[in-house]
Amino acid sequence: MQRSILAAKRYRTTEHRDFHRSSEYQEGRRTRRSRDARALEKGSAYGRSLAADHWAYAEFEALSVMYERGAPVPYPVQVDGTELLMEFIGDGTVAAPRLAQSRDDPAELAGLLEQVVDAMHLFARAGYAHGDLSPYNLLVHEGRVVVIDLPQIVDAVSNPNGIALLHRDCVNIADWFTRKRVEVDAEALFSDLLATLF
Ligand SMILES: Nc1ncnc2c1ncn2[C@@H]1O[C@H](COP(=O)(O)OP(=O)(O)OP(=O)(O)O)[C@@H](O)[C@H]1O
Ligand SMILES: [Mg+2]
Repeated sequence: MQRSILAAKRYRTTEHRDFHRSSEYQEGRRTRRSRDARALEKGSAYGRSLAADHWAYAEFEALSVMYERGAPVPYPVQVDGTELLMEFIGDGTVAAPRLAQSRDDPAELAGLLEQVVDAMHLFARAGYAHGDLSPYNLLVHEGRVVVIDLPQIVDAVSNPNGIALLHRDCVNIADWFTRKRVEVDAEALFSDLLATLF
């Protein structure tokens, strides 16, 4: 018998993404039913459950698109209401560590940086910025970087905040690696990604 472990990510209605933060990502995305749009704006209980559904679905979609394009993301299995099931990244039942927990070994980190930059290019080539990239949303499994936490993925060009979010991703990554003594120029990375985007 073949067994595989899945990771379940459940979006709760009361915590997690709040409306103030989510509006930054949602601009330019249309909500079809205006009652839903109003509920979202008001942050009512109904609005909150809609938002939780929205984020689970958005993350499933984002994983599907990026997996298809060969990006190192967990394989998306299914979304059911507020719960997203995806490939579990880890050994047995032990989840892979986050990049933030990596050893301070510059040679090893340089290899991981290269993979992060490659992944960012795959996102840019698809027209997206991750939008919340940090060493906490990157797992390292058997030496391979896996990008997680994609619900807020933004269309870098059509979203009015897209370019700013892409820039923030670059700064987050460059700052962290630079602090670990693997120098990265955030602005150079940003302009490389812009060139990929346009
Ligand atoms: N597919 C996966 N396989 C293994 N572990 C995972 C997977 N997805 C997420 N995790 C673990 O769960 C943590 C939280 O996941 P994620 O970043 O997607 O959610 P989050 O709501 O942003 O939580 P946080 O605020 O802690 O970042 C990750 O840092 C990672 O340790
Ligand atoms: Mg996260």
